[in-house]
Amino acid sequence: MTFKVTKERYDALMDVVMNRMTVRAFDQDYEVPKSHYELILEAARHGPSGANTQPWHYIVITEPQIKQSLAEYFVKEQRQRAKLKMKFPTPDYRGLGAAPGVIVVVSDFRWTKAFPNLREEDSKLNAMYKENAERILLQSVAASTMSAHLAASALGYSVWWITAIGQQEAQDAIKPLLGIPEELSVLDVMCFGPSKKEPYKRWKKSLNEIFSWNTFDQAHFLTEKEIDTWIQTQRSKVMYRDEAKID
Ligand SMILES: Cc1cc2nc3c(=O)[nH]c(=O)nc-3n(C[C@H](O)[C@H](O)[C@H](O)COP(=O)(O)O)c2cc1C
Repeated sequence: MTFKVTKERYDALMDVVMNRMTVRAFDQDYEVPKSHYELILEAARHGPSGANTQPWHYIVITEPQIKQSLAEYFVKEQRQRAKLKMKFPTPDYRGLGAAPGVIVVVSDFRWTKAFPNLREEDSKLNAMYKENAERILLQSVAASTMSAHLAASALGYSVWWITAIGQQEAQDAIKPLLGIPEELSVLDVMCFGPSKKEPYKRWKKSLNEIFSWNTFDQAHFLTEKEIDTWIQTQRSKVMYRDEAKID
């Protein structure tokens, strides 16, 4: 087999990777051509997954009324979080109702049975394997979803990855709206479209900060206190500011 390093393809990929940027307000008047949904989901289709289970299903929402109902749910949830004093800097979820492209990401946790586990469902030992199986499933769906986000970005769209729906109450509210069977779960929502304003690049850690050679470089270990401080002082800045404007 002949092997050739292809820096040109890497550069083309990095152009897409680096220019994938989250926006939360889109040009409401733009209509996404049907073929673009297919191009985006074709990328998702090729994602890797544990045991090649491909445990994902994507629901393309084109009906404005359904988008609106989803947005209303998120706005309600956002208020609830504020009331609970979570202090999480929540975005304006009304942007979802105005997003030209909306795709709901669905999974089926029954696929965890396809990953390594014991027959005795209730044993303590199996609980450990079950937990790992759930991680495998979530990583699989995220891998496929990321391909979809990169494909949308490659087409020139800005993207928005929304996960604020893990809790049971949200599942109960959203599943009937979309005719999703009880056994399945909504994992996240992908929005995309032309951005209303110029998108901005958010802060990313430097390359040296995110990896070590061979063994974990202890210089990168953060104490609980350091993490708490980061949340207090940095989180909202890195979520909502251009990296060039962070002091
Ligand atoms: C797993 C995951 C969950 C996210 N959940 C939400 C969410 O619920 N709401 C939201 O507004 N943004 C959400 N985001 C978007 C992040 O806030 C965003 O990716 C991050 O601030 C970095 O910005 P960038 O995407 O422009 O690099 C999520 C992103 C990922 C990957």
